[in-house]
Amino acid sequence: MQTFASSIAKVFYGTLIHSLSLKEVEYISSGLLFVDTRGKIAKLLKNVDADKLPEALEGVAEDKVVRLTEDQFVIPGLIDTHIHAPQYTFCGNGHDMPLLEWLDTYTFPREAAFKDPVYAREAYTRAVARSLRNGTTSACWYATIHLEACKELVQVIEEQGQRAYVGKVNMNQNSPDYLVETTADSSVADTRAFIEYVKEHNASTVAEGSSARITPIITPRFAISCTGELMRKLGDLAKEYELPIQTHLCENLNEIGFTMSLFPESANYAAVYDDHGLMTHRTVMAHCVHMKQEELDLMKTRKAGVSHCANSNLNLKSGLAEVRKMLDMDMKVGLGTDVAGGYSPSVLDALRGARSVSVARDAETTLMVSELFYLATVGGARVMELEDKIGNFVEGKEFDAIVVDASAPGSPIDVFAHDTVQTKFEKYLFVGDDRNHSTIYVQGKEVRLPGAASARK
Ligand code: GUN
Ligand code: FE
Repeated sequence: MQTFASSIAKVFYGTLIHSLSLKEVEYISSGLLFVDTRGKIAKLLKNVDADKLPEALEGVAEDKVVRLTEDQFVIPGLIDTHIHAPQYTFCGNGHDMPLLEWLDTYTFPREAAFKDPVYAREAYTRAVARSLRNGTTSACWYATIHLEACKELVQVIEEQGQRAYVGKVNMNQNSPDYLVETTADSSVADTRAFIEYVKEHNASTVAEGSSARITPIITPRFAISCTGELMRKLGDLAKEYELPIQTHLCENLNEIGFTMSLFPESANYAAVYDDHGLMTHRTVMAHCVHMKQEELDLMKTRKAGVSHCANSNLNLKSGLAEVRKMLDMDMKVGLGTDVAGGYSPSVLDALRGARSVSVARDAETTLMVSELFYLATVGGARVMELEDKIGNFVEGKEFDAIVVDASAPGSPIDVFAHDTVQTKFEKYLFVGDDRNHSTIYVQGKEVRLPGAASARK
C-alpha cells in the first residue's frame, strides 16, 4: 500500500508567497509544501516550527526536502498570456513604427524565415529558454503559418518542460505573398494536421495519471489577415476539438478602421470575432486597448479573457488599456509580454508596465501590488481557463513554481537589515530578474534549460 510519504517527490520548507485574490497576497512563513509524484500539491502546512519538522517529514527522504534560506521564497510560476515565439529573433528592434507598418516592415519578413524548420528549431530553442528562465512556467505562444516549424516549437517546449498553448497562425488575406496561406481550406487543413500532431505527441509522452502540458490553440492572426470563411471554419474547428482560441483585438486605431472596412456587417471589432464563432470562454484577446463599452460587455458575457500587454502598447504607441475598468467589471485579465511588439520576454516587465500604464491612465485608481501579482499568476490562469490547475498553491493544483532568491549571486536586489519578507518580495517584483530565479518547476519537475546541468527529473 502506498503511504503518504512514499507518494511525495519533493517538499519545500520556508516562506511561500501566493495570490488569493485581487486584494490579497498570502505570505506563509515556515510553510511546508508537499509535491506528489504526479506533480500535484499534496499538502500545504503553515507556521510549522522547526521542532515539529521531524514529525511532519516522517518517512520522507532527506534529499527530497528543500530548505529555503532567509532570503528565499517560493512563488507560483508566472503566466505569459501572449507571446510570439518567432518574434524573439528581433526582440528589442524596430520601435519606430506603429502596428500595421511594424508588421509589414519588421515582423512579416522575419516570420517568413520559419519556413525552414532547422532555423525554426534553433530560434525556438532560444525563445523558449529565455521565457522559462524569466519565470514563465505557462505561455500562450503564437508560432507562424508554417506547419513543420510549429511542430518544432512543440518539440522544444516538450524538451525544456514549459506548460504551453501553441498556436499555428492562420493568415489568408492582406498578407505579403511570401507569408500567406493560399486558401481558407488549406489553412484549416494545416491547422487540423497540427492539432492531430499535438494530440499524438501527448498520447505518446504524457504519463498515466498526468495531464498534458502542451495544448494546441486556434490562432487566427487577427481579422485583417483572415477571410470570414476562414474565421468561421476555425471557430468550427475550436468547437470540434474543444480548443482555446487566441487573437488580437482593438490594439490600434488604424487596425480597427481597416477591420471595420473589411467586415462592415459586424457591429464592432469584438463582434467580428463573435459573428464568426471565435469569442468563447476559452478565447484570449490580446490588447483590448480601444474598446467600446459594448465590446467589453460582449467579452464579459462570453467569458473571454484579456491579455494586457503594456510594454507592446507603449512601444508600438498603441495606447493605454483600461485595466481598472475591466477588473471593476470582473472580466478575466492576465498579462502578456507580446514579444516583439513588447521588447521584454519577462512577465515581471509586463507587471511593471501594467503598473505604469495604470498610473498614466488615472493616478487615482492605479493597480496595486496585490492586483499586479494576481494578474501575473491567478489572472493569467483564469484567462487560459486553467485556474483549477495552476495560479497559486491550493492543494490539488499542479506545482508550477519559482524558487526566488533575493540575494542570489549577481542579484540586482540588495537586501538590508530592515527588510521584511514583504519588502523583499516587492523588491523582487519591481527590481528583480532571472538572476533571482534559483530553480523553476513545472508540474513538480525542475525545468531543463539548454546548457544547464539539471534535467526534468
Ligand atoms: N496584430 C496582428 N499581428 C500582430 C503581431 O504580431 N503583434 C502585435 N502586437 N499585434 C498584431
Ligand atoms: Fe501580439
